[in-house]
Amino acid sequence: MTDHQFPTLTIIQHPLIQTKLTTLRDVKTDNYLFRSLLNQIASLMVYEVFRNTETVEIEVSTPLEATAGYKLRKEITLVPILRAGLGMVSGIQQLIPRARVGHIGLYRDKNTLEPVEYYTKFPPNIAQTKVILIDPMLATGGSASAALTFIKKRNVTDISFVCLVAAPEGVERIIADHPEVPIFTAALDRELNDHAYILPGLGDAGDRIYGTE
Ligand code: PRP
Ligand code: URA
Repeated sequence: MTDHQFPTLTIIQHPLIQTKLTTLRDVKTDNYLFRSLLNQIASLMVYEVFRNTETVEIEVSTPLEATAGYKLRKEITLVPILRAGLGMVSGIQQLIPRARVGHIGLYRDKNTLEPVEYYTKFPPNIAQTKVILIDPMLATGGSASAALTFIKKRNVTDISFVCLVAAPEGVERIIADHPEVPIFTAALDRELNDHAYILPGLGDAGDRIYGTE
């Protein structure tokens, strides 16, 4: 979908994604179903996220003869933002099983709403890989912007950001801070409330994944 004003934003509107997202938004959906659907949606989003990924030609031998085939030009590194980003990793790994996984631990300070870093671990060759930063919620954009800055400090040049629900304020922040980073989301919601929660949103993704509310 392109009827919005954000040049680097792709909204993935497949009917299977939209119907599963509706169940995720439902306050009655329990933790078990929430986790399952989040991973299912992540799997479905991968197809679109990798649509323009570069491949190189390789030779493959069928049982009958050699022929041309393809492989992805770069290795893939998935970087979930802890905690909620972890909830999409296994869904993406279903389709990219050999991706390495780096981690960034950030939480949003309840008073300042600024991201606070508590853990970072990346694969050593991350600079040569295509990095997919993952977090279901893009609210103010503070967490994703800080994570992108950490990743870029490792000389990574090929980064995409995948979320599930984005607020316009967060998209604007990422475009302002990281204009070269493609953003993929399943929904662009209306706005943030006074506590920087996305409206209509789905509540606190981390709490709904892990049952900590
Ligand atoms: C949530 C969410 C994002 C962040 C989005 O995490 O998973 O990381 O808030 O908000 P922002 O765009 O305004 O930065 P939270 O800080 O609640 O931590 P958690 O994943 O550990 O629950
Ligand atoms: N983090 C969440 O988990 N949900 C929101 O709506 C905003 C930030």
